[in-house]
Amino acid sequence: MRIIIAQDYQELSDRASRIIVGLITEKPDAVLGLATGSTPIGLYQKLIEKYREKVLSFEKIKTFNLDEYYGLSPEHPQSYHYFMRKQLFDHVDIKPESINIPRGVGAEPEVLCQEYNEKLKTANIDLQVLGIGNNGHIGFNEPGTSFNQETFVVELAAETREANKRFFSSIDEVPRHAITMGIKNIMEAKKILLLASGVSKAPAIKRLIYGPISEEFPASVLKNHPDVTVILDREAASMIK
Ligand code: F6R
Repeated sequence: MRIIIAQDYQELSDRASRIIVGLITEKPDAVLGLATGSTPIGLYQKLIEKYREKVLSFEKIKTFNLDEYYGLSPEHPQSYHYFMRKQLFDHVDIKPESINIPRGVGAEPEVLCQEYNEKLKTANIDLQVLGIGNNGHIGFNEPGTSFNQETFVVELAAETREANKRFFSSIDEVPRHAITMGIKNIMEAKKILLLASGVSKAPAIKRLIYGPISEEFPASVLKNHPDVTVILDREAASMIK
């Protein structure tokens, strides 16, 4: 794992955007794996800026998102479909048919998983952006998930629902299930870019770097991947030497 420590969130976002701009410049039809959550918002803002400055175009880019809450329609303001439109897709020239996100409604969850997993089999993701949960989750692969897991319906851990309740009016509104790429799908990306910001992520980053590879800490699987870049701000890096 290559570890980059940025001064602050702005620099973290800028460095991450430069990696993606480099990839798109080299390969205008690159396939990007994308994440939601607070951490990549600054990265998406930088990418929108670069698009406006005509440094890059998303016209030939394809994207695959990590996850979606089960039961939320694409129009629901807390759905990850909605998040991606507001934070990135509405502001760049990506073609709607090039955007892939698990469907959260429309069929039984197992059917939705199978549908997304089929798409992922031929996706050939060049670079997957990841955040990290305080418990080491990547995507919604919570502790204890098998490293061989493909797209599946996950029951969200209590701590994950707690961490995400800030976006809902009450904890009861936070969905109990999500559809997520499995760890096996994530590991198939050619490159991985993991971002972590803020002091609350420091213990997870410490465990990622110094801890063993274990299904009890899902992000630790990334040590088995040949091309991972981790970008931290100083706070997230505060428990590593
Ligand atoms: C998002 C995702 C999650 C988040 C993680 C960190 O698509 O799959 O794994 O990356 O929960 O979230 P934030 O960035 O909000 O701290």
